[in-house]
Amino acid sequence: MSKSDQRVRAMIITVPERIDQEWISRLAAASEIELLERLALLHGVGEAARRLRPELVLIDRDLDHAESCVRQVAAAAPDAFCVVITADSSLATLRRLMAAGARDVLATPNQSDLLAAARQVRAASAERRHGTRGEVAPSQRGRLIVVTAPKGGVGTTMVATNLAVALRQISGAPTNLLDCSLQFGDIGVHLNLRSKYSLFDLSAHPDDLDEAMLTRVICEHETGLHVLLAPTEPEQAAHVDGAALNAILDRLLARYSFVVVDTWSFLDEVTETLLRRADDVLLVATPELPTLRNAKRLLDFIQRHTLASAPVQIVLNRFPSVEGITLEDVQQHLHYPVTANIPSEGLPVTHSINRGEPLVVAFPKSWAAQNLLRLAAHLAGDDVATLTLTASEGRKSTEVGRGVKASLLKFARRKSGFKPA
Ligand SMILES: Nc1ncnc2c1ncn2[C@@H]1O[C@H](COP(=O)(O)OP(=O)(O)O)[C@@H](O)[C@H]1O
Ligand SMILES: [Mg+2]
Repeated sequence: MSKSDQRVRAMIITVPERIDQEWISRLAAASEIELLERLALLHGVGEAARRLRPELVLIDRDLDHAESCVRQVAAAAPDAFCVVITADSSLATLRRLMAAGARDVLATPNQSDLLAAARQVRAASAERRHGTRGEVAPSQRGRLIVVTAPKGGVGTTMVATNLAVALRQISGAPTNLLDCSLQFGDIGVHLNLRSKYSLFDLSAHPDDLDEAMLTRVICEHETGLHVLLAPTEPEQAAHVDGAALNAILDRLLARYSFVVVDTWSFLDEVTETLLRRADDVLLVATPELPTLRNAKRLLDFIQRHTLASAPVQIVLNRFPSVEGITLEDVQQHLHYPVTANIPSEGLPVTHSINRGEPLVVAFPKSWAAQNLLRLAAHLAGDDVATLTLTASEGRKSTEVGRGVKASLLKFARRKSGFKPA
């Protein structure tokens, strides 16, 4: 039996803001475990369990959510051994979780108990192990999430990029990020990806797009996110029209569970095609009068021309930042509710963009990243609070700021060859 055959195939389900917990990383590094996926969505648990066929599922969510996860896993992968982590050790809770199909309940995610559970799984499933993995569920049309803004510089690309990475991380599902900021698309810079192929190469052959061609043009980020980059030269943008884009979207939505699109601030055929087809339209605005004024005009335009079939959701970026404008002011100005806010956090955001590492990977504990992870869970269908107007305890931006400063200093020293005495 090979070493990989002996490892227990595990899946972890937690909450978006704790997806990077230390116990998860430690467990992922354990030689007994093959960590298939860490998820932070309730919505796709059954689908992921069917696709990945885990032997061990560790669930670290509040009680109601944990019970629902156990039920979904029990229905999708009846042989999986479900362990719930909960501080509530009452008999009633134990009974409730066991009745739903849990096999064990642990008070804390302690490494030795988790490994003991894995050993139990190994012993129990030795003879009924199939050794199969990665079977994809029957194909369903993916969800198209279009991120747009009436003005450049408000954070559209930052939001689109991090949402795509977050969706991939919390769902484990095939996810694509498409750069439709056609003339000066910069997702390649935000994710430190380079390719000589782009959306332009696919637009040139919209009628005979095949899998081989898509695979050649699409790049893969280290998080497993697939990316279709914008044309490399500004003049190529004119070759991407509505018809070509429609054909490309058809292929992408058949291949991926989520397709996130970054756009430019221009109401042309491409943006209109995207708005018409979107399942979610996110309009990014910042709390400044010129942006809010244009956001209102764009909202009115979309409504007047019934451009989008999905309701527009406002993402208020860089809020809170400086004092002076409240959430009520913004909503009153727009005559529209705000769905989510992303706080202004100059240090981690700028640092992550300049390093080409998305914020949700580089600084997952920052307040901005936490809100992006929550927004991703909301888009994937989970019931989460997407507006947070104060930083959560223990994740205060000052702490993250200190972390960034320390890592910037290390980076600068490495660059300059400076070594402290
Ligand atoms: N939440 C935020 N906090 C701090 N700075 C931000 C935030 N969002 C965006 N920025 C800054 O704004 C700049 C523009 O962001 P970008 O996503 O490129 O905007 P757009 O795509 O709308 O032109 C970034 O370089 C970044 O420094
Ligand atoms: Mg941009």
